[in-house]
Amino acid sequence: MSDIFDFDRRKDQYAVMGNPIAHSKSPRIHSLFAEQTGQSLEYTAIQVDPGGFQQAVGNFDAAGGKGLNITVPFKQEAWHLVSDRSERAERAGAINTIKFDGNTLYGDNTDGVGLVNDLCDNNQLELKDKTILLMGAGGAARGVIAPLLVKQPAAITIANRTVDKAKELAQSFSDIGNLSGSSYAALNGKEFDLIINATAASLQGDLPPLPENILTANACCYDMMYAAAATPFMQWAADHGAVKILDGLGMLVGQAAESFYLWRGVRPETQSVIATLRSEMLVKK
Ligand code: ATR
Repeated sequence: MSDIFDFDRRKDQYAVMGNPIAHSKSPRIHSLFAEQTGQSLEYTAIQVDPGGFQQAVGNFDAAGGKGLNITVPFKQEAWHLVSDRSERAERAGAINTIKFDGNTLYGDNTDGVGLVNDLCDNNQLELKDKTILLMGAGGAARGVIAPLLVKQPAAITIANRTVDKAKELAQSFSDIGNLSGSSYAALNGKEFDLIINATAASLQGDLPPLPENILTANACCYDMMYAAAATPFMQWAADHGAVKILDGLGMLVGQAAESFYLWRGVRPETQSVIATLRSEMLVKK
């Protein structure tokens, strides 16, 4: 961890911690934000070994670090580690952002608002009174439920391979919205305006077992994963007539923008950063 102590001490220090972390786009995103907003900061990527997370955060704090993003697999551990949490982080049970504030470690979860801003601001989707299918019942799904409910959809159905997990997740948010848990097979005969893929299936080149004919006429499909090429779910959406098909690059930049805002008090504009990353991804393809 000696790299932590090699800080350029003239600049405020930020980092993303995770494992693996080598391909993280966060350093690039935050340097584009810093350039755009005229903020002076340095943002690095730190790989943390299993079992070493608490120590790594302590080292970063001791070296004068100002803030961290947290990614797989440490989001839940980070939730337990912080001393204070935003309301949305409290609900999510996982955090992706830490702000060091004197002796306080403040935790937030900006994933959900990153998704909702990408859907509603960047892509002009109206979620009010719409039917949403959320696929997956892990941390990624949990983090976006409360921010989606703020937009007052008619209902959110959570589908998962392990049905009990979907039902438990729906139950745990049932005080703030109309949610239900389902198997994939039981979706047969239902229709959705928006399907969000929060499973790890795309990472494995796989597709959740969706029934045919579950998209409404103007449906949108959103895969939280992003890649230069369409994911299997995005391909499924194209084959089934989805009107809008989106990957998770906008969510990634959106969550970063909200973290940046928490740390610096300035909210960067995201569309130009998404466009820059998109063109860089295509060049590397
Ligand atoms: P994360 O924190 O990224 O959400 P996770 O907690 O491991 O990761 O959850 C992964 C989610 O993807 C789960 O909902 C998982 O379904 P199960 O709970 O039934 O395991 C889902 N998932 C993973 N691979 C999948 C696949 N090939 N098809 C469908 N769902 C899959």
